Amino acid sequence: MQILTALEPLRTALSALKSGDNSSHPSALPRLALVPTMGALHEGHLTLVREAKRLAAHVVVSIFVNPRQFGPNEDLATYPRQLAADAALLEAEGVDVLWAPDVEAVYPAGYATSVQVGGLDGVLCGAARPGHFDGVATIVAKLFNQVQPDLALFGEKDWQQLAIIRRMARDLDLTHPHADAILGVPTVREADGLAMSSRNKYLTADERTAAPALNRAMRAAAAHITSGASVEGALEALRVAVLAAGFRQVDYADLRDSDTLENMAAFNGRPARLLVAAHMGKARLIDNVAVE
Ligand code: PAF
Repeated sequence: MQILTALEPLRTALSALKSGDNSSHPSALPRLALVPTMGALHEGHLTLVREAKRLAAHVVVSIFVNPRQFGPNEDLATYPRQLAADAALLEAEGVDVLWAPDVEAVYPAGYATSVQVGGLDGVLCGAARPGHFDGVATIVAKLFNQVQPDLALFGEKDWQQLAIIRRMARDLDLTHPHADAILGVPTVREADGLAMSSRNKYLTADERTAAPALNRAMRAAAAHITSGASVEGALEALRVAVLAAGFRQVDYADLRDSDTLENMAAFNGRPARLLVAAHMGKARLIDNVAVE
């Protein structure tokens, strides 16, 4: 695995990978998949990498803790960073290239451009974290341009992020990757149902024991809604259950259209997602489940 931190060597390495494919035995698979991450890799990320390896001839993983998606009072300084350990995990998975630029390489002095996906970015996590999704869309657009992948894979745990990136790809007519080649991979969970997240490291032992109540309450609410209960009543019961389990604040608990993220006051059979963000100790946990 090559570990690269500057754009020119990245481009050279990627064109060498691609020209290798023009040999007499070209692969039938799409050539290049990108898995964007902020590092602190866990089984959820490795599942994305394995899926990328299954679907593409070559895999690039990026690790970049993107300052533009953190608010002024958020955890940029303390966000877990473990590049050497992450690199060892990726090497063992057979990743071709680890793209790990530093902040100055991504946002040099004078950097001025931002990508904003209007509408989708102001609700749910966007309401509590102003500017967060501008930062996400900007870095993902840059990563797509730098790597020019045929496929890109993201975890469904960040459902809103996935919807915004797909919207961006459609709106900007991206071809590397095309919007249809932006793949969501189902959330990987601990045995007790807690969605895997780098931020689970912020939970104390007691909080970690209590945290799976979030997903339990969400699955119960989703089941109530599909069996005909009122959406408002099911969401209120969910909020009460989450607070009773030890979460100190619920930022949102909403039923939304899976694609447009429009609020759904009633379940009408269209693909819907129940999405929640709640605070437990120092951690802000998010999760979502399908309501079908
Ligand atoms: O989901 C993440 O880890 C980040 O938001 C991403 C997509 C790598 C952009 O920084």
